[in-house]
Amino acid sequence: MNKDRPGHLTINREARRDFPTRSFCFEHGLSGEPSFEVEEFTRVSTMLPSDMIEVVSDHTGILSISELIDDIKSSSTWMIFRNLEQLPTYKRIMEELLEDLTCELGIAASDCLRPMCFAFVSSPSVRVPLHIDPEHNFLFQVSGSKSVYLNRHEKDPIVSPTQIAAFYADEVGFSLSDATVDEGKFEKFYMTPSSGVYIPVTSPHYVINDEKVAVSFSVTFRSISSDEHRDRHLRMLQNHS
Ligand SMILES: [Fe+2]
Repeated sequence: MNKDRPGHLTINREARRDFPTRSFCFEHGLSGEPSFEVEEFTRVSTMLPSDMIEVVSDHTGILSISELIDDIKSSSTWMIFRNLEQLPTYKRIMEELLEDLTCELGIAASDCLRPMCFAFVSSPSVRVPLHIDPEHNFLFQVSGSKSVYLNRHEKDPIVSPTQIAAFYADEVGFSLSDATVDEGKFEKFYMTPSSGVYIPVTSPHYVINDEKVAVSFSVTFRSISSDEHRDRHLRMLQNHS
């Protein structure tokens, strides 16, 4: 592991034991990396296919990504830049982080199947609704701060196996209703520019940004266990149809 480059991360021993089923925080040195300056995402938007950029905003008019970024401090907007591994700069950062992660977790690089990376740029106080994702997700806070609320799904699950199976059937962002959120079933992770959180496969979570613009970077991958989890749920769906 190269401790000199900015992406170096540290996972404590107890957290290491919890992977892949339980969430945990970790520390990293990704902040200050120029590729994550807010303004840089205007350039990224010109290099990424448009369907790789998802925008949720209170703006009613049609604005370009560059206009949305210029106005991000005063609007209520969040943007996801998907599959950034298509761009060499982010692919390199992802690969370096994966090298660190596998070393820290004591797993083989070949255990990380189909790695991908994403960036999230969000306005002050924005809330990302409750949802689940299909991958092992390492979320790095790069600038600004936010609270990530994670359901302790191994202890107090709020999604049923049937809901998870329905999600796996198409794997399009699976939003859950916030209306019945029982906060007692969630663990809060406060993310600052040197911290990160591991979000286990299909673990429900929602995010609330603090009062500054925030940039986060997410490195995800599948594994034999996550593929088995998906296949088991899909079989369940078939048996019930
Ligand atoms: Fe997510």
